[in-house]
Amino acid sequence: MKHLVSISDLSRDSALQLLSDSEQLASVNDRDIKKLPTLRGKTVVNLFYENSTRTRISFEIAAKRLSADVINFDASTSSLSKGESLRDTALTLQALGADAIVMRHPMAGAATRLATSGWIDASVVNAGDGPHEHPTQALLDALTMQQQLGLGDDFSGLKVLIVGDILHSRVARSNIMLLNLLGASVTVAGPHSLVPLEISSLGVKIHHDFDQALAEKPSVVMMLRVQAERMSKELFPSASSYIKLWSLNPERLSQVESDAIVMHPGPMNRGFEISSAAADDPRSVVLRQVTNGLAVRMAVLQQVLSGGLE
Ligand code: NCD
Repeated sequence: MKHLVSISDLSRDSALQLLSDSEQLASVNDRDIKKLPTLRGKTVVNLFYENSTRTRISFEIAAKRLSADVINFDASTSSLSKGESLRDTALTLQALGADAIVMRHPMAGAATRLATSGWIDASVVNAGDGPHEHPTQALLDALTMQQQLGLGDDFSGLKVLIVGDILHSRVARSNIMLLNLLGASVTVAGPHSLVPLEISSLGVKIHHDFDQALAEKPSVVMMLRVQAERMSKELFPSASSYIKLWSLNPERLSQVESDAIVMHPGPMNRGFEISSAAADDPRSVVLRQVTNGLAVRMAVLQQVLSGGLE
């Protein structure tokens, strides 16, 4: 696999292989000396046109743990802010010898454009293209479900509920695609204005009532941030009405099965889509998700740059 721009680049087998490679690589992160020589001599560029904390740092640490050289291009502090085109930036990175470009961009399809443009020889890893896809997030979420729920390779029968701003969420889209590929069943729940009807074409069930969705006893409750920065107009009446209907508050948390898990990709808005009680509950695995992000990004970089584990 040369690029990872979409979950549709993966087959069920290659997705499971990446998850098992991640599991193996995770052990490096528990060692005293957290480094493998796999990507020595390779250059990984983090090209971020949108803000990010955990994803960028996670890719950076992952590349370093595999001994790659890492360059961070941040749109706000580089010539990108002077209006350079994606093509010129790509050609520059090519001229500098980049082997992999990890890109986050506000436009859906940007990573595909870069990967198929012919501008570069480098591998492209999509770290989020607008509201479209975020494949490494879906992989780290699947790894977390696998570990926490003891699934092994068998996701069939797993019920996952994704709640909130589905419309703007690349996390939701990539998760739906990957979970379907792995055989899980996915329900999305949110207000009408934040759940696009077309989402059902991805093979999900839709609910517009959080409590009804919880009554179906999902094993995973994944809360999403309301992405106000992607909204050109108000899509719900008020913050207080959103909190009332869509927050994972203590009362709803008590409806979550005792052996289920609560997930959130971060950054969390405590008190809004998720209460502190839920974020800090023993069933919450948000920090495990962050830790798993490292292993998954190591596995992905290794896969695109050297064809996977030996
Ligand atoms: C998400 C993103 O950027 O898509 N965060 C992340 O990558 N961990 C979700 C979000 O911004 O709400």
